[in-house]
Amino acid sequence: MRVVIQENYEKMSKWAADYIAAKIRNHKEDRPFVLGLPTGSSPLGVYAELVRQCKAGELSFKNVVTFNMDEYVGLPHEHDQSYWYFMHDNFFDHIDIPAENINILNGMAEDLQAECDAYEKKIASYGGIDLFMGGIGVDGHLAFNEPFTSLNSRTGIRDLTTDTMIVNSRFFGNDPSKVPSRVLSVGIGTVTDSKEVLVLINGHNKARALAKTVMGSVSQMWTCSALQMHNGAIIACDEAACGELTVDAYKYFLDIEKKERL
Ligand code: GLP
Repeated sequence: MRVVIQENYEKMSKWAADYIAAKIRNHKEDRPFVLGLPTGSSPLGVYAELVRQCKAGELSFKNVVTFNMDEYVGLPHEHDQSYWYFMHDNFFDHIDIPAENINILNGMAEDLQAECDAYEKKIASYGGIDLFMGGIGVDGHLAFNEPFTSLNSRTGIRDLTTDTMIVNSRFFGNDPSKVPSRVLSVGIGTVTDSKEVLVLINGHNKARALAKTVMGSVSQMWTCSALQMHNGAIIACDEAACGELTVDAYKYFLDIEKKERL
């Protein structure tokens, strides 16, 4: 696993955006580049930089197909806290991606399980995901796979923990009871099936989660720890998130990344 430590959030975002942009530009196959995407505050800097590069004519999303990680159940597209709305507002409305290339789980579907099964099939129909960008929650949830979700899980219906509803209530007028308790989410297995996974971890409040992700045991208690079993996993993080790494782990990652650039 690579852990790329950057000085601050801006540099982390720039590094991750450049990494993704290079993958898209270098994709020479006949089929589209398939990109998995997260919501949350962590990826906002990456989205802003990718939009900038697209507007500057340095990058195009015409041959990119996207699959988002998750969505709340019961929020219509036009609800300003739906992930559909978030993605269009922060990213899709500002780049040249064809609308038919965008895939987001529909939390208003009549048959939610059928919606999730069809999502898995659609991912497979493109030959899988080339690069899944993700973020994690303070409890280590990857997508909406809360602690004790199987590390083999596939796209499905999930219940949020009270802790996550409290954390996410900052977007719902600080009222946890307004946060939908059911969500649709890709599984840990869906994410780890991707050729590459790039997870953003920033800020002091994610320090424990970063330590569990890279130094803890692989455990369903910290679903992000499944990334240790992935052959193409990269964590991009900022200094603030490194507070609970051991000194030797911190030094190791800095040392090895210096060599990666040689
Ligand atoms: C939500 C999303 C996750 C995201 C997490 C972290 O729970 N469903 O996919 O990774 O928030 O959010 P933030 O980046 O705002 O800390």
